[in-house]
Amino acid sequence: MKGIVFSEFLEMIENQFSLNLHHQVLRECQFDHDGVYTPVGTYPYEEFLAMADVVSRETNIDQQKLIHVYGEYLFSRFVELYPEFFENMEHPFDFLESVDKRIRPSMNQVYPDADFPALPCRRLDEKVLEIQYKSVGPLMELAYGLVQATLEYFRYESSIEVDDKSTTGDHTDVTFTIRLE
Ligand code: HEM
Repeated sequence: MKGIVFSEFLEMIENQFSLNLHHQVLRECQFDHDGVYTPVGTYPYEEFLAMADVVSRETNIDQQKLIHVYGEYLFSRFVELYPEFFENMEHPFDFLESVDKRIRPSMNQVYPDADFPALPCRRLDEKVLEIQYKSVGPLMELAYGLVQATLEYFRYESSIEVDDKSTTGDHTDVTFTIRLE
């Protein structure tokens, strides 16, 4: 997974918990690269989960809950880092559809070797959208947090149903069905 996902996680730890915890995570995990993540570098998912384990233990926040919260945080960072993808967007379904159609192809130019998750969408009617998250990674809660933050950003009340079809722990196939109120 690309370094940006790791470095933003460490930023969140520092901002929302403490610099001490950030240092402790790096000390305990002892990665070869000393915790320096370049945005274009590729690092194993296991490193992300190992860091999340330390934070979860130290903060008493369930690991999956923490990854979900990180998804929400990461969304707010995408808004700051890539304002162009939010221009002229008024509806959460238009934005979610644009991730696969527009954002991913554009990000592929920045990160040609990235393993972006596939996020195909299907509009069932004007108030219901299905978005599938298919990834070689185990980050369902990250996707869930990103989807939830999208709905909040566009100020839409909704319910989200989660159908997890993954059969093994090393890949993910989940469908989120979003129903606007
Ligand atoms: C402006 C919007 C977005 C940008 C710029 C963006 C960009 C990225 C980038 C650069 C990565 C790292 C890819 C890699 O490591 O190979 C990534 C990963 C990911 N993205 Fe997005 N993304 C956006 C929106 C979303 C949304 C709305 C979702 C919600 C479903 C999403 C779900 C994910 C997940 C779950 C990952 C983790 C990697 C994985 O599962 O393999 N992204 N994204």
